[in-house]
Amino acid sequence: MIQPVIAGNWKMNKHIGEAVAFARRLRAAFATPPAREVIIAPPFTALHAVAEALRGSCIRMAAQTLHEAEKGAFTGEISGGMLREAGCTHVIVGHSERRTLFGESDGSINRKLRAALIAGLQPIFCIGESLRQREAGETPKVIEGQLKEGLNNLTADDIGLCIIAYEPVWAIGTGKTASPEQAQEVHRFIREWIARQYGGAAAERLAILYGGSVTPANAAALLAQPDINGALVGGASLDVDSFVQVIGH
Ligand code: PGA
Repeated sequence: MIQPVIAGNWKMNKHIGEAVAFARRLRAAFATPPAREVIIAPPFTALHAVAEALRGSCIRMAAQTLHEAEKGAFTGEISGGMLREAGCTHVIVGHSERRTLFGESDGSINRKLRAALIAGLQPIFCIGESLRQREAGETPKVIEGQLKEGLNNLTADDIGLCIIAYEPVWAIGTGKTASPEQAQEVHRFIREWIARQYGGAAAERLAILYGGSVTPANAAALLAQPDINGALVGGASLDVDSFVQVIGH
């Protein structure tokens, strides 16, 4: 039985004070731990303060990306070790905004996944097709390519530490959610691919999250699908009440 995961990706939102106030309210809402693992991903500047606000709670914290090296002359970048030190347990890797706006390739995403694992962070590895690719019937091919290249050289043990997030690019921030059936079809495809490459045990343990316009109104139907083990939530994670409602489903 996979513990469902609800992760909130704040993107470039919230100053330190707002982030800490959110963390305190979220913590108060889950004085009794929910059945689902709850993760929030604040921007870098708020990580340390949010970790302090969450200390001793059941809520985990992710960074939104990391650099592939441990340290060095990489102006503006942040390493996995630094994120651990700031209190992160998880890190989002390969989000479609990183791929499309910041030119991250499958190769660099693979190096980032490995850097995260070396630093002791659990990666939330994001994959998903564009609208053009879906309409051209290329979804399976695109997903397979992203899995193959992103997970290149990872072992079944490594996969056991990863979370995968399927986020169709056309559903992110657009209000157009994939239907539960559309999402389930791709989640099933991902799990079967993992089973073929890494064995059934790894596939059965793997949490596969859906992301793309998840809200309190559609979360329950998505999460009821057999291969959807949680959600990566953007817009609806910025408001504590709506995020609590998504978690509560
Ligand atoms: P959204 O973002 O929920 O605002 O569509 C999801 C994501 O980008 O992870």
